[in-house]
Amino acid sequence: MLLQGTSRLDADGILVIGGVRATDLVKEFGTPLYVVDEAAVRSRCRAYRDAFEATGLAYDVSYASKAFCIQAMCRLVAEEGLSLDVVSGGELYTAHRAGINMQRVHFHGNNKSVAELEQALDAHIGYFVVDNFTELARLAQLAQAKNRVANVMIRMTPGVVADTHAAIATGQEDSKFGFHLKSGQAGEAVRLTLDSPHLNWIGVHVHIGSQLFSLQPYETAARHVAAFAHTIKTQYGQTMRHANLGGGFGIRYTANDVPCTTSQYVHTIARSLQQAFMEVQLPMPTIGIEPGRSIIGEAGTTLYTIGAIKTIPHVRTYVAVDGGMTDNPRPALYDSRYEAMVANRGHDEATQCVSVAGKCCESGDMLLWDVTLPEVRVGDLLAVSCTGAYNYAMASNYNRLPRPAVVFVSAGQADLVVERETYDHLVARDRIPARWRT
Ligand code: LLP
Repeated sequence: MLLQGTSRLDADGILVIGGVRATDLVKEFGTPLYVVDEAAVRSRCRAYRDAFEATGLAYDVSYASKAFCIQAMCRLVAEEGLSLDVVSGGELYTAHRAGINMQRVHFHGNNKSVAELEQALDAHIGYFVVDNFTELARLAQLAQAKNRVANVMIRMTPGVVADTHAAIATGQEDSKFGFHLKSGQAGEAVRLTLDSPHLNWIGVHVHIGSQLFSLQPYETAARHVAAFAHTIKTQYGQTMRHANLGGGFGIRYTANDVPCTTSQYVHTIARSLQQAFMEVQLPMPTIGIEPGRSIIGEAGTTLYTIGAIKTIPHVRTYVAVDGGMTDNPRPALYDSRYEAMVANRGHDEATQCVSVAGKCCESGDMLLWDVTLPEVRVGDLLAVSCTGAYNYAMASNYNRLPRPAVVFVSAGQADLVVERETYDHLVARDRIPARWRT
């Protein structure tokens, strides 16, 4: 397993995260358990800010909260000076309840409901990233009814194809997201925004995809944005003030993953935009980015207890843990690869090739195929690294498994930030039809 952030092994071979031993965490909070290395999150936030500071350009780094949206996380990134991107009324509500400055929040989504738009207007968020014509009209009408002016970024799909899993590629022309650039729809969206006294056009947004290792799509997107700014200036005399190139910066799930550094991503975006805006002779907009995975992904570790071991002679050894696709659906959804270790015997030699199964009732519930571990025993702790992003966020109650707790660890302290679900939580919203009760 990759030891990232503050993770290390102590003299007894026990995994220590944020200065707290995995065995102590499990004693106090049980398994499965999501553990977040707070210092690692803070250092990623700072890395983005430092990289932008070095460019001397105006910038705004937002954390894409969809990667892991709980109140403590909203507070943590706000404390580190980041803005926040939300994509639903639920994420918006979480940010609001966390008490963060709603001016630093912006709202994405390809089907924002009337209620969600009203909620966002009432919360006085910074801006809306408008995704389609239906939403544009809906927002203009609601802003008018509330006698407000909403700041609008136009999300455009520039036709940039990224090398990633199809489910998380978004920049291509045939996408459910954004206004199509080439057919002129993005330009038309800006025109409509400018025409409405209740909408204030501030810029454009592009998000190409997620878990990208290449810099090239960002360079291409930057050129599209500048060309679009030029078109808007020529046609409507308006200057683009904000250009947001989204998120998608790749992380290191396994030793085979070699992402660019934070500063490479940031400098590429900054340099490409600067160059492209110079060429079209327009002033530089404020540069926005929205990293999600790269802020929280590597900072998360999931701890499980090994409950059953089954060896099929000459075939494979299955090691079953007390979680699975319910707390990490990514292997099943995207064929994602992870690394693992036995967290209570980290110094033992890895001698055995096993596959780690979840406890859900389907064969697709596998967390890792063919990993090399020490001889495992029932009761051992298994740590899977790099589970901070889109794990808790996409967790489910399939098979009525309660969702695990989440703890933040830092400098030897562990704080519960999400309680473990109980069976009572599971049935709390169930109702038996009254007519059956006679
Ligand atoms: N901005 C927009 C508009 C997005 O759609 C996304 C991710 C991000 C920013 C953040 O991207 P990141 O930096 O986290 O790559 N559930 C999938 C990932 C879905 C990503 C959706 N959009 C997974 O587990 O891989």
